[in-house]
Amino acid sequence: MNIIIKKNAQEVAYEAANQVADILRDHPAGVLGLATGSSPLGLYEELIRRNKTEDLDFSRITTVNLDEYVGLGEEDDQSYHRFMKDNLFSGININPKNTHLPNGLAQDPDAEAREYEELLSRLAPPCVQILGIGINGHIGFNEPAPVFTVPTHVVQLTEETIEANARFFDSKDQVPTSAITMGMGAIMRAEKLILIAMGEGKREAIGALASDVIDPMIPVTMLKVHPDLTVIVDEAAGADLKSHGES
Ligand code: F6R
Repeated sequence: MNIIIKKNAQEVAYEAANQVADILRDHPAGVLGLATGSSPLGLYEELIRRNKTEDLDFSRITTVNLDEYVGLGEEDDQSYHRFMKDNLFSGININPKNTHLPNGLAQDPDAEAREYEELLSRLAPPCVQILGIGINGHIGFNEPAPVFTVPTHVVQLTEETIEANARFFDSKDQVPTSAITMGMGAIMRAEKLILIAMGEGKREAIGALASDVIDPMIPVTMLKVHPDLTVIVDEAAGADLKSHGES
């Protein structure tokens, strides 16, 4: 595990962009794994800037996203389809046909999860998968549970996650209660993982990376056994990792 602690969110975004850009230059037709939420926003801004002003090219890149809310479609303001379009895809030279997220409006979400898993297994493993983290340690929407789930699946969101994500909606009761998420299997298949977190609220969840156990009740702990995990955090989120191999 490579731990990089930066002063603030802007530096986290810049460092993550440097790493992602280097990887994409080495894999110009690679698969890029993406996350939504507030954590990767600065990274996406920086990737857009480099696509417009530097030689960072997405024309042959394929993307796969971690998750989508059940019940929300491309036209919904809060869907992850919409988030990706607004915050990354519309700003870069990617072919929209090469961007993939689970379909939150599928009539049968379990069947959609199986199809998404098949798509993931047909594609090459992501050369890099971007990850954020929930305050409860969730990765994608792999929520704390007695066991890990390997394939893409439908998940009931925990009360903590619904409350945390209510900030993006007009009210808490508008937050969908379930989602389709990549399982830990596909996440762990990526060649490299870059986990981004900022702020005191993420300190405890990020701190779990310093413990000696893998605990499905704290899903992030699974990432410790990935052979190429880079954690890029600000000082507040990384406070409990300080003496743990920071570079
Ligand atoms: C998003 C996702 C989630 C978020 C996490 C943190 O696709 O899978 O795991 O990364 O909930 O969200 P933010 O960054 O909004 O704090």
